[in-house]
Amino acid sequence: MPHLLSIKDINKAQAEQLLTSAQGFADAGLTVSWAYKSCCLFFAENSTRTRCSFELAANKLNLAVIQFDATTSSLNKSESLLDTCLNLAAMGIDLFVVRHRQEGVLQQLLPDLPKSVAMINAGDGCNEHPSQALLDVMTMRQCFADISQLRVAIVGDIAHSRVTNSLTQLLLLLGVKDIRLAGPPELLPERSEQRQGCYYFEKLAPALEEVDVLVCLRIQKERLTAQLSMTDADYRKHYGITEAVARQLKSSAIIMHPGPVNRGVELDAEVADGPRSVILKQVQNGVYMRIAMMDYLFRLQEPS
Ligand code: CP
Repeated sequence: MPHLLSIKDINKAQAEQLLTSAQGFADAGLTVSWAYKSCCLFFAENSTRTRCSFELAANKLNLAVIQFDATTSSLNKSESLLDTCLNLAAMGIDLFVVRHRQEGVLQQLLPDLPKSVAMINAGDGCNEHPSQALLDVMTMRQCFADISQLRVAIVGDIAHSRVTNSLTQLLLLLGVKDIRLAGPPELLPERSEQRQGCYYFEKLAPALEEVDVLVCLRIQKERLTAQLSMTDADYRKHYGITEAVARQLKSSAIIMHPGPVNRGVELDAEVADGPRSVILKQVQNGVYMRIAMMDYLFRLQEPS
């Protein structure tokens, strides 16, 4: 089954192919149509950017699109997720795009679904969010000639961040050697769960020295299992990207955020809307990257 559930599902050449393809769609417009294909956008967790950009991407590819509404579906009559997907596959769905709060749920479904059906992970719990990582790197490539030489800092709730999990894997795959993950100790992973090849920081200032790319993350309160010891005001004081913090960055440094942004907590409004911010560029690139991902999977479905 062709699928993109994790950055582990692609090698370096395939990652570069997706990045080049998405940039091609951004530069030259769409030259491809999959009018006989269908996809189901199965979002069982809240989303604005990911759901809407997958829907736009699907429409631009002329797909038949089913917006699956978990709240009004027969999931509420005790139908299992697997039976739901098997029924949708029986209707002729070629591609599932799934967001779910349960980590690894798509890997569990995979063996029981028809081999012809493709699947994209649009975010599963704290685990992975591969399309976000790919659009983030696409944005970095638009700003810097050689991303392998970048110093990248990711600041915030690292422990619960599926964006960090996918982005660090992708950056390492593409040869980035200086990846710094910073946040309060209670929002950093246990030492045994820290990713090899990344540097961890409990203080903001050393993590930001000479960085080219600063990725801010929100505190994912919906995933916390215990009350944080710091208030939002404490967080902003020690880890917030204020104008004063942003002024200390290299003049060429860019500021990213996967969204949604909590203005005045992890990122001040003046910085989010300022000249270093590429946040809306990330959102724009998300449509092209999701077109590229769907096109990539549909090509794998075609008989060779
Ligand atoms: N970045 C991201 O996943 O945003 P949404 O939750 O709005 O899709």
